[in-house]
This record gives sequence, structure tokens and C-alpha cells, in this order.
Amino acid sequence: MTWVGTSWKMNRLLAGARSYAAALRDHDWSAVRRAGVQPFVVPPATALDTVRTTLGSATPVLLGAQDAHWEDAGAWTGELSVPQVADAGARLVELGHSERREHFAETDRTVNLKVHAVLRHGLRPLVCVGEPDEVRGRGGGVDHVVAQAVAALDGVPADRRAHVLLAYEPVWAIGEHGRPARPEDVAPVVAALADLHPGPVLYGGSVSPANAAALLDVPHVDGLFVGRAAWEPEGLLALLELAAGRTA
Ligand code: PGA
Repeated sequence: MTWVGTSWKMNRLLAGARSYAAALRDHDWSAVRRAGVQPFVVPPATALDTVRTTLGSATPVLLGAQDAHWEDAGAWTGELSVPQVADAGARLVELGHSERREHFAETDRTVNLKVHAVLRHGLRPLVCVGEPDEVRGRGGGVDHVVAQAVAALDGVPADRRAHVLLAYEPVWAIGEHGRPARPEDVAPVVAALADLHPGPVLYGGSVSPANAAALLDVPHVDGLFVGRAAWEPEGLLALLELAAGRTA
């Protein structure tokens, strides 16, 4: 199976969430389904219920949350629990994105606690791992990313591991100022991740229609996690159809 999805990050109000979801609802999914491509969308938590309701039950799109706390409930002002995001429609939970690690004190330890919480409730963790530019510059990229993945999966029983999605997202490739990664940058890291992890390994960071096919061709890349290029529904749908065409 090939996974192709997007996080909207901190974008879209409810009206915009509705129009995005309506475009997905009205899409002809036959090629994507036939090819075994799994679409997913990770809106802000405020829009989860709206997106779920607008999509209805006729699309293959899985919904995700951008984060969730490791406790199920309690005095954690400003946080959302896994049961809460599941209740709003999430079936997967993104964890450990570099923006959260950089700006919101996310650590390997909290990512690991959250992985356990997400699995406990039967959702799929989507764990982002990736090295900063200076680590890559001194040749430590693979070790850094492997250490993040090992920490995230610590204590996860063997029979649950395949349920976890990993996304290799080099920090230097993400966002407006990111440098698109070349297939040869991605290959050794993804091979090392696939070696330790039985579940899907995705690539994310400046994915676009120009580089998507080459990135999907990298051995052990099981999908794409997309930001800006899929912030309009046409962008996501184009990447999904591209992935479907490639596996058809
Ligand atoms: P980008 O974001 O595609 O806009 O670089 C990727 C990500 O943060 O996952």
C-alpha cells in the first residue's frame, strides 16, 4: 500500500475546511482505490468534525490529528487527548513533527508516551523523524533519525509495530525555506528505518508534483507526507493520482 496525505498545519477556518473536504468528497476515487493508495488528511483539530461530516462515508480518506496528549483526561490545559481527537474523527495521530520538537518542547520521551497512548486507543501513530541541517552536515543524519525512531518505538510490542507509520522528514527540507531532498539523500535514511521498522515508512519535506515520482521510487519509501503542495485539494488529488498511476 502507498500512503499519500497532508497536514494542513495551522491553516484553514471551518468554511475552508468544508470546501476542501467537499472537493475530496466529489472526487472519483476509483483509480486511487484500484491502485491501493491510502489517502489521509490531517486538519487542525478544530476542523476534524467538519471534515469528517463533509466527507461522509463514501471516500477512502483517513483523518488524522496533528498531535494528542499521552493521558486520556485530566488537568492539562490546552491539550487534547487521543479519545478526544478520535471522537472528532481522527483515525491516525501525527506525532513528533519537527515544528513541535523545535517550538513546543516535544522530546523523544513525550513522543514515545504519545505513541503508546495512540496505540492503546486503536489509532495509528504517524511519527515524524528527521535530522537538522547541522547534524546532516557532520554526517550524523542516519544515526540521528534511527535514534529518534528507536526512542519513539521503545516498549511497543512486536505485534503492534506494523501499525505505526514513520515519516522521514529532514528538518532542512521542510517548509518555505526548505531545500528539496534528492532521492540519494533519502535512500540511506529510509533504508535504515525500514531495517528496524516493520510498518510503512513515508517521506515528507518539500514534496511537489515535480519530485513525487522520484521520491516514491526510492526503495522502502511507502508513501508521501505533504505540506504546502497539498494545501489545496487539487494539489493532494494530483499527488494521489500520480501515486495511483505509478502503481497501476
Ligand atoms: P512541506 O511540509 O511539504 O510544506 O515542506 C512538509 C511537512 O512539514 O511535513
